[in-house]
Amino acid sequence: MELAPSESPAPLSVESVRALNLSGRDFLKELDFTPFELTSLLDLSSSLKIARSTKSEPQFLAGKNLAAIFEKTSTRTRIAFDVAMSEQGGSTTFLDASSSQIGHKESPADTARVLERLFDAIEYRGTEQSVVEEIAEYSHVPVYNGLTNQWHPTQMLADFLTMREHASDPDQLSFCFVGDARFNMANSLLTMGALMGADIRLVAPDSLWPSNDIVHTAESIAATTGAKILLTSDLEQGVSGVEFVHTDIWVSMGEPDDQWAQRIELLRDYQVTGSLMNMAGNNAKFMHCLPAYHDSTTLVGARVAREFNMPNGVEVTHEVFESNANIAFDQAENRMHTIKAILVATLA
Ligand code: CP
Ligand code: NVA
Repeated sequence: MELAPSESPAPLSVESVRALNLSGRDFLKELDFTPFELTSLLDLSSSLKIARSTKSEPQFLAGKNLAAIFEKTSTRTRIAFDVAMSEQGGSTTFLDASSSQIGHKESPADTARVLERLFDAIEYRGTEQSVVEEIAEYSHVPVYNGLTNQWHPTQMLADFLTMREHASDPDQLSFCFVGDARFNMANSLLTMGALMGADIRLVAPDSLWPSNDIVHTAESIAATTGAKILLTSDLEQGVSGVEFVHTDIWVSMGEPDDQWAQRIELLRDYQVTGSLMNMAGNNAKFMHCLPAYHDSTTLVGARVAREFNMPNGVEVTHEVFESNANIAFDQAENRMHTIKAILVATLA
């Protein structure tokens, strides 16, 4: 994405990065950082993004290495960690369940105690949050959550950087999440939105809302940050006036395939269509962590179109996905700039 010429990078030096006081910290969930620390990470992301585009990026991670564990598949998160480490002068070793002992022959605790001997940091993507928490408990190096069923914190830095870049007022973000609101993306958007003082609406049938624990935590944070939280099943009420409309796939990685029928029955009316976008604010933007089922060019997209008579996309229509409102590819690019910021802030 082009950056406005008026945006000038904050000075980037080892001293300025260390002054953030984030050295050695884990990033397992949004709540690991204060609003001030999250804002500092977003500012650092912007500075690194501008430095990269002006070919003036300093390397803070020469000689550092990252172990990146992917028990679930990934395109964006994997390439973001890889490119960020490499551009910062470091290196990445990828591990997965099929080509290593992780998961089936060796526990998270034992894996962590091996990896910390050889690596400066560990990234983990998998199913349960308890696994990434165990890796963090048993290692003395920073551990980053690259997605679990409960949280997707590195995605949040990218989403908030992207909203800041496109918002009419970066300090007054308003967004809705429409779709399966009881999984990682909605949990994370609700919690991060509460920490960042945003106007947040989760729009879904009430059987697909986040757990009471997560909602209560977000509400208590909102009381201190000024965030506004609305959970509703009413599309018009949830979407009206927001600047950003988020969605996610309706059946997430690791969920059984037989969930599709029930999920489509619950969510068919919550597809992001042109008329839903028109309910949002003028010039509202569409956001999606990706991958998205918006046509029949993927195996799942084609199957759902055929079996459930959804010829024009699942969670979002092809028309909205291909429109100028779609900023999901800026969001995807920002995965790299924001993951680079977390690596630099915790390892430099
Ligand atoms: N958004 C996201 O996490 O993408 P990947 O699954 O491709 O990493
Ligand atoms: N909810 C999705 C997010 C993908 C980035 C999943 O867990 O599959």
